[in-house]
Amino acid sequence: MLLLGIESSCDETGVALVHAERDGVPRLLGAALHSQVAMHRDYGGVVPELASRDHIRRLLPLLREALAQAGVALHEVQAVAYTRGPGLAGALLVGAGLATALACALGVPALGVHHLEGHLLSPFLSADPPAFPFVALLVSGGHTQLMRVDGVGRYALLGETIDDAAGEAFDKSAKLLGLGYPGGPALARLAEQGDAAAFALPRPLMHSGDLDFSFAGLKTAVLTQVRRLGAELEARKADLAAATQAAIVDVLVHKALAALRATGLKRLVVAGGVGANRRLRAQLDEACARHGWRVHYPEPALCTDNGAMIALAAAMRWQAGGWPPQGEGLAFDVRP
Ligand code: KG4
Ligand code: ZN
Repeated sequence: MLLLGIESSCDETGVALVHAERDGVPRLLGAALHSQVAMHRDYGGVVPELASRDHIRRLLPLLREALAQAGVALHEVQAVAYTRGPGLAGALLVGAGLATALACALGVPALGVHHLEGHLLSPFLSADPPAFPFVALLVSGGHTQLMRVDGVGRYALLGETIDDAAGEAFDKSAKLLGLGYPGGPALARLAEQGDAAAFALPRPLMHSGDLDFSFAGLKTAVLTQVRRLGAELEARKADLAAATQAAIVDVLVHKALAALRATGLKRLVVAGGVGANRRLRAQLDEACARHGWRVHYPEPALCTDNGAMIALAAAMRWQAGGWPPQGEGLAFDVRP
């Protein structure tokens, strides 16, 4: 089965081709990606209308690039997968529209994929793929969730954020520190030069006894420090960045370990943009090694949004017998 995957939920346009047999891990044949980060930077965040228009401009050139890389022709594609949601409505519609049109022209099924299922399964494209069952820590700009994953489509939510997502906490704190957009990676870079113990920031819900998260209070605490420091902020910025990162990472690590303990599972999969954070990886690796648990990450290029994870999720659904061969016809919808 040769699958085309299209991702356009937010500010990344991704197209990829994946090959799957009935069994075994699907293989990535080619992938093309364009990030709109530079375009949105001037506005301090993603401008939905600009995002949609840019997806329209980029998708066909990216499709040609991915096909060339994979060495396959468009007419060989046997299914077209696209991100149905969650994401920006207009941005999603661009990918969904193209996917449905291509599928119609090719006479193959079009398949709407849940964006988070893509993130969740993305480590299967790494050199050392996980095995089911596992606990997944999904940490992106919009979501922070712990799931129990028993197989493709067999997901149980163990806990999630009750307000901001972890990536949002990174981004909003970075904005308070004047680090621009997107702030998460910038804050992480600055934190490397700072002393995390220089500020005592809260670890919300860390000892709540459940697997939920809360990051809104942390953002307020960072704001309070920024106001208190005033002109001194510049000199203390790296320390405050380090303290913020430490607070977010401490909570994520604590709850991920609690989820492994609660489920009795011995494998952890970390996915989503924040999964690229080096402190998070170092602490999870260290703690899990101590317990004899395994941690799996996607390849660095597949941590943030991309088309490969969407094609992969559809491929694994097909392997599991999860979608009908006739697909969904010409109608398509998105779930922002
Ligand atoms: O999964 P993703 O690319 O997009 C969403 O679906 O949200 O995640 C983006 C999020 C942003 O909040 C970004 O700041 C954060 O991931 N991020 C990081 C790092 N790299 C990306 N946060 C902390 N440390 C990083 N190294
Ligand atoms: Zn994402």
